[in-house]
Amino acid sequence: MEKIKLGASTLEASRIVLGCMRIADMEDKALATHVNRAIELGINLFDHADIYGDGECEYKFSKVLASEVNREDILIQSKCGIRHAGNSTSKENEYYDLSKSHILDSVDGILERLGTDYLDILMLHRPDALMEPREIAEAFDHLHDSGKVRHFGLSNFHAAQFDFVQKHTDHKLITNQVQFGAGAPHMINSRMQANTPFESAGDRDGGLLDHARLHDITLQAWSPFHYGYFDGIIMDDPKYEALNNVLEDIGEAHGITKNAVAVAWILRHPADMQTIIGTTNTSRLEDIVKASDVKLTREEWYRIYKAAGHILP
Ligand SMILES: NC(=O)c1ccc[n+]([C@@H]2O[C@H](COP(=O)([O-])OP(=O)(O)OC[C@H]3O[C@@H](n4cnc5c(N)ncnc54)[C@H](OP(=O)(O)O)[C@@H]3O)[C@@H](O)[C@H]2O)c1
Repeated sequence: MEKIKLGASTLEASRIVLGCMRIADMEDKALATHVNRAIELGINLFDHADIYGDGECEYKFSKVLASEVNREDILIQSKCGIRHAGNSTSKENEYYDLSKSHILDSVDGILERLGTDYLDILMLHRPDALMEPREIAEAFDHLHDSGKVRHFGLSNFHAAQFDFVQKHTDHKLITNQVQFGAGAPHMINSRMQANTPFESAGDRDGGLLDHARLHDITLQAWSPFHYGYFDGIIMDDPKYEALNNVLEDIGEAHGITKNAVAVAWILRHPADMQTIIGTTNTSRLEDIVKASDVKLTREEWYRIYKAAGHILP
């Protein structure tokens, strides 16, 4: 699998990343097989967050790390900043906290649950309206100087907010993890439909696709098969019948599955994004990874874009 340098760092990571948001309920043995297979197939970066499974996902992963995998052979990233009031992890109790003390405490919790001394990348999960970039910068300095975090990135940040945080820290932020896929290509719509009255031309992110390319930031596309905001996945959804037909057709031509074509669509973009897949099914993982060997033609890429219901002006 192709590897790329993340942002302006020297970290070399696979274009396809295994997301660990859904692993909480996996049997230990199945998870070990899944992670080992991912590594065999060339995946070397694993994505976590402290809230995935309320910490259970990191804990489950630590068992694989302890018995099956050499820590130095893989890269691990995790995120913090989403927390809950009281003991309930319900959405109603959720709030954001990018204070220095919360970032520092969160990383200690993450490292303990993962059973590792360091994270390769720490990301701030979502922008906190009350964030103070100077506090964030102090937290980053402390984490880096103590050897707990090697690199830093952000997630779901608007381009201007990204710059705001970057302005206050000497650590070059290397990643922005954002939703992107054929079912959710807002970053692209706003650019290709610029200066049109179309609803989908709205700029939702300050042009972060161009921003990332201008400032050497690696975009990591999360939930590549989803449409809307966790409304469902495009695969076999009757609302996306035309898209499924095109994915099937192009998949047949390349000898890969519809899932793999959807990932190849993201990888084809010249911004060299990574794709974070969240499958817990090892056979689906094996199929999806074949996307990294396929370069879609321009014609195929636009066919998929339009079949997903997006327009060219
Ligand atoms: N930064 C953020 O705010 C953020 C937000 C969300 C996610 N993430 C990251 O992105 C990763 C991926 O997210 P995700 O898991 O939502 O993405 P995804 O890979 O788009 O979706 C995975 C889900 O879709 C199912 N699926 C995929 N193809 C299918 C098919 N052909 N038929 C039936 N079911 C299918 C999978 O089931 P199987 O397990 O059966 O394959 C799994 O439940 C997460 O693990 C996390 O690391 C980050």
